[in-house]
Amino acid sequence: MSCDYRALANAGVQKISPYEPGKPIETLERELGISNSIKLASNENPLGPSPLALKAITGMLPELALYPDGGGFALREAIAAKLRVSADIVTLGNGSNDVLELIARAYLAPGFSAVFSEHAFAVYPLAVMATGATPRIAKANAANHAMPYGHDLNALREAIDATTRLVFIANPNNPTGTWLTRQALTAFLDSVPEDVLVVLDEAYSEYVGHDDYPDAIAWLQQYPNLIVTRTFSKIYGLAGLRIGFALSHPQVADMLNRVRQPFNTNMLAQAAAIASLEDADHILRSVALNDEGLAFLTQACTERDLRYIPSVGNFLCIEVGDGAKVYQDLLREGVIVRPIASYGLPQYLRVSIGTAKDNQRFIKALDKVQGR
Ligand SMILES: Cc1ncc(COP(=O)(O)O)c(C=O)c1O
Repeated sequence: MSCDYRALANAGVQKISPYEPGKPIETLERELGISNSIKLASNENPLGPSPLALKAITGMLPELALYPDGGGFALREAIAAKLRVSADIVTLGNGSNDVLELIARAYLAPGFSAVFSEHAFAVYPLAVMATGATPRIAKANAANHAMPYGHDLNALREAIDATTRLVFIANPNNPTGTWLTRQALTAFLDSVPEDVLVVLDEAYSEYVGHDDYPDAIAWLQQYPNLIVTRTFSKIYGLAGLRIGFALSHPQVADMLNRVRQPFNTNMLAQAAAIASLEDADHILRSVALNDEGLAFLTQACTERDLRYIPSVGNFLCIEVGDGAKVYQDLLREGVIVRPIASYGLPQYLRVSIGTAKDNQRFIKALDKVQGR
C-alpha cells in the first residue's frame, strides 16, 4: 500500500488519542479464561435501570421496524416538565457524549479554541480536536488543594482568549469526582464574555447532595451562553441505550439541531428515558446505595492509609502507586477498574461504586495485590 490513509485524515483527527473505555467483562474473561468477574470501571448504576424503563422498552419492541421520532417530542416534553423548562431548549443526544460533539461541531472550526481543565473528562479533547479547533488546557488544582486535581476556575478564565468559543466544565468532574460550588461558578459565569459558550457537564449531578452544589438549570435565563448537559447513563442506569440531552438558549438548540443526525436517539432509549423520569424511587435508592458505597470505600482507604480524591460522583480515585501494575493485578483477581494514566494521574485508579458485595470484593482484591 503506497497511500498513508492516516495522513489523509483531517489534521485535528490525526492528533487525537483514541478514547480508552473500561474493559468489558466478556473481554477480560475471554483473555484470562476466568469467570465470575466484576466491572467497576465505567461509572454505571449497579442497580440497573428502573423496572418502569424495562417495561416501557418491552412495550416498544413491536414498533422496531419504524424509525423513531427524530425530534424526540415526547421525551423532550417529559424532560421539560420534570426540570421546569421549555421543551424548545432541550436537545437530545445519543448519550450526552453525542451532545458534547454536536456543540463542538456547531461552534468550533480551525482557528477557534475550546478551554477545559487538566484531568477533565476525556471526550472534551476528542470533540474539540475532531473539528480542527485548538484545545486550550488550563492547569488544575494542585495535589494538596481541598479539591485535588479539580478544576481551577481562575485558570480556566485565564485560558479564555479571543479565539475561544467554548469552555467545558464537568461538575462533578470525571475522573476526579471533584466539584464546584454555586458561588464559584456564578462568579466564573459573570466573568466570561457572552460570546463564549460555557458547557456545564452535569452527568453525575443527581448523585450530589451538597447544599452548595448549584441548580445550574435555574441559571439558563440569566446566562444565555450557558449550556447544561445531562445523561440517562449514570443514575438512570441506561448507559447501554445511549441517551442524554443539553439544555441551552433556544438559538443554541436550533444550531445543535442542524448538525444532529435526523434519528440520533433511538426509540427504546426515548421510551425508557420517559419512564425513568417517573421513577423517583429508583433515583432515591440509587443515591442511597452510592452514598453507602462511597462511605465504605473512603473508610476502607482511611483504614489502609490510602490517599483518595474526595468525590461526589459514583466513583472514587484511589492512589495505589503504580496504577498500571495494580490494574493488571486486579484484572487477574477478576476485578476491572479504570487506570487513569491517560488523564495524567498514573498513580491513581478510578473505581466505580458498586453493590456492597462488589465494593467489598474490590477492597479484598486490592488488599491481596498490595500484599496486606
Ligand atoms: C463527565 C462525563 N460527561 C459525559 C459523559 C458521557 O456519558 P454518556 O455519553 O453515556 O451520556 C460521561 C461518561 O462517563 C462523563 O463521565
